[in-house]
Amino acid sequence: MAQEKSMAAPDLLRRAKLLKQGAEARVYRAEFLGKPTIVKERFPKRYRHPVLDEKLTHRRTVQEVRSILRCRRAGISAPVVYFVDYTSHCIFLEEIICSITVRDHIASIQQCDTSKDSELEQLAERVGQILAKMHDEDVVHGDLTTSNILLRRITESGEYDLVLIDFGLSYISALPEDKGVDLYVLEKAFLSTHPNTEALFEKLLKSYTASSKKSSAVIKKLDEVRLRGRKRSMVG
Ligand SMILES: Nc1ncnc2c1ncn2[C@@H]1O[C@H](COP(=O)(O)OP(=O)(O)OP(=O)(O)O)[C@@H](O)[C@H]1O
Ligand SMILES: [Mg+2]
Repeated sequence: MAQEKSMAAPDLLRRAKLLKQGAEARVYRAEFLGKPTIVKERFPKRYRHPVLDEKLTHRRTVQEVRSILRCRRAGISAPVVYFVDYTSHCIFLEEIICSITVRDHIASIQQCDTSKDSELEQLAERVGQILAKMHDEDVVHGDLTTSNILLRRITESGEYDLVLIDFGLSYISALPEDKGVDLYVLEKAFLSTHPNTEALFEKLLKSYTASSKKSSAVIKKLDEVRLRGRKRSMVG
């Protein structure tokens, strides 16, 4: 029976469509109980000791599920968790339909000839707000990039909401330093992915500051981490 249960997820994956093969996980699209579902499977890494690998993989699966649930409980959009198989390290998530990554969205706006600065600014503000809410719940994402935030269209007229994903490196912490580093990681990713967006990222931070109850200590830490980063790059 236990055997049968543990075979359920791999069985389903054989019929699923592989969307993305990453270094740590494979992401599939499937149907689960009649619903469009994203399955994230963390596979074994041969270069790691099997016991250590199993431990790390299990921890990431647990962290991902825990942070998603914590966000959802606080009213922060993240996919519904349908099912977790801790044997095959598979998480079954609601597929956010009609969505694209914030990364692709920014890139497509930037490619348009007509300048759409206000649209980009509004998006940056919305990202700042959702991250402020997440940090106020003491969720530190651990891998903030514009690929790990989805934009879901709600209406034809362009209304949308933002959905946070990819919580495998997340953890719970109230420390301003941890949140500051989270923002620093995003800043690095943001500026290197999207050219000429310094002012836009400042907008994001401004909106984060206005939305979070605990932002001043976090921004102070962000400044410290930036300085450390700069010193390190000067030393080489
Ligand atoms: N719930 C979801 N609904 C719709 N699309 C999703 C969902 N979860 C993930 N995706 C898509 O799959 C991609 C990869 O998912 P995710 O970021 O969770 O995995 P990953 O292996 O960590 O990828 P990466 O290495 O790019 O961070 C996302 O960028 C997104 O395009
Ligand atoms: Mg990702």
